[in-house]
Amino acid sequence: MNILSVKNVSKNFDGVHALDRCSFDVCDGEILGLIGPNGSGKTTMFNAITSIYPIDRGKIILDGEDITGTKTHEIADMGLSRTFQLIRLFPKLTVMDNMLIAQKYVHGEKLWPQLFKKRHVMNEEKEKIKKAKELLNIVNLGHKSDELAENLSYGQQKLLEIIRTLATEPKILLLDEPIAGVNPTMTKEILNLIKSLNKKGMTIVIIEHNMNVMMNFCDRIIVMDYGKEIAAGKPADIKKNRKVIEAYLGGRKSNIDEFK
Ligand SMILES: Nc1ncnc2c1ncn2[C@@H]1O[C@H](COP(=O)(O)OP(=O)(O)OP(=O)(O)O)[C@@H](O)[C@H]1O
Ligand SMILES: [Mg+2]
Repeated sequence: MNILSVKNVSKNFDGVHALDRCSFDVCDGEILGLIGPNGSGKTTMFNAITSIYPIDRGKIILDGEDITGTKTHEIADMGLSRTFQLIRLFPKLTVMDNMLIAQKYVHGEKLWPQLFKKRHVMNEEKEKIKKAKELLNIVNLGHKSDELAENLSYGQQKLLEIIRTLATEPKILLLDEPIAGVNPTMTKEILNLIKSLNKKGMTIVIIEHNMNVMMNFCDRIIVMDYGKEIAAGKPADIKKNRKVIEAYLGGRKSNIDEFK
């Protein structure tokens, strides 16, 4: 069964076809990889799915419901969460406050009032704190609750980004480069977390440039180039696909090393 379907989606930015009649399905329970050279439209696809900006044409179906044009926080409420390519934590707030504000923010409440009444919120909403602590403990960040987010290592900040999306108990999680720039030890930890979430039934869509990781980690892979889906299939088949090899070799030298 498909939990998410992207149907014929296009998005233009001043003449740049960031997405060009792109279609694919995400099966319930799978780990789906989204790969493609720089600028091929991967992040734009996540932004289109989560209504960060309106698409020009096409449809997005989540769990059988047409969510095209639905507000971002409503999509989160429907069970689809995401992380961003660049870390979006509040560096001067504690780890716990980042967890709690994420819960509020994702539900579309205004951010600044939440910041000002946060002590009050924390007293009232013990249940939410308890849940946030449980989530932090899963990734061994429980003891860092009162630490400012900026004092965490880069890898820990990436972990926190993932863990704070879980407060809404998503059915499907979109991860935009969750291990980019992270050291090997933390990479392992982040991948273990993603795997364990998937084992518990969460569907994962992951964008990453590390081809070794993607080939071993994903059940299936979709390849994008110039805003189009150029291939979809099992990792072993994707590795041999001519169109894919050409996309990675086609004049863009920076991508050659990735695809070995
Ligand atoms: N908000 C925007 N305004 C204008 N152009 C944009 C915007 N977002 C993306 N683009 C353009 O759309 C194209 C696709 O960009 P996108 O960020 O989706 O690529 P990507 O596959 O995520 O690349 P990377 O692997 O480098 O993260 C690029 O040409 C980019 O410059
Ligand atoms: Mg991107």
